[in-house]
Amino acid sequence: MSHYIAIAPSLLAADFSTLATEIQKVETAGADYLHVDVMDGNFVPNISFGPVVIEAIARHATMPLDIHLMIANPDQYIAEFAKFKPEYLVVHAEATKHLHRTLQLIQSFGIKTGVALNPGTPLTAIEEVLPYVDLLLIMSVNPGFGGQTFIPEAIAKIERAKQMIVYQGTKTKIQVDGGINKTTAAACIAAGADILVAGSSVFGATDYHQAIVGLRGE
Ligand code: DX5
Ligand code: ZN
Repeated sequence: MSHYIAIAPSLLAADFSTLATEIQKVETAGADYLHVDVMDGNFVPNISFGPVVIEAIARHATMPLDIHLMIANPDQYIAEFAKFKPEYLVVHAEATKHLHRTLQLIQSFGIKTGVALNPGTPLTAIEEVLPYVDLLLIMSVNPGFGGQTFIPEAIAKIERAKQMIVYQGTKTKIQVDGGINKTTAAACIAAGADILVAGSSVFGATDYHQAIVGLRGE
């Protein structure tokens, strides 16, 4: 039986001069979540935006937010981002010294947890904490920039992540982020992905609805 594939457009690729309109357009187009990329110029070699901009985003979006923190020492900012009541608050396993503690901190705000793994980070980084992980984000590019090319080894990693989830019996969803287009989306779905993040392939399209439907393979 085929499972529902959720699409989370990454706002990073949107026109920031008309953010409210972009959010509304992508919502009407059928997006399931709004993926919000926070970059600090330290954990990743790029700076995007922070709480001030997200406050405005949260005010305009009615779909749930999925906040992807590409920042060092995420614990320091969890409370700040929890205020926006996102569906998922995602931290990088590489960015925190005590992942278990970070996940408990997110849960203490009643928010679902997410852990992202860079392409160079093995799945064993989350093996021991999987029962605390609602969303496992497999990065299919090195984080920091939109519009990069999908790293093909991510497919086998998704398959292995799925096996780990089934083996441990957790309800963890698998999300994939980076270089998602119609072709790579189909391969991710076949490998077991539940949620696809897409920046340029949605916001770069003339018809957002067609782009979203196309990624689901409908
Ligand atoms: C990359 C970000 C992604 C990015 C995806 O560091 O985490 O969410 O916006 O952009 P595309 O879909 O263009 O690769
Ligand atoms: Zn992202």
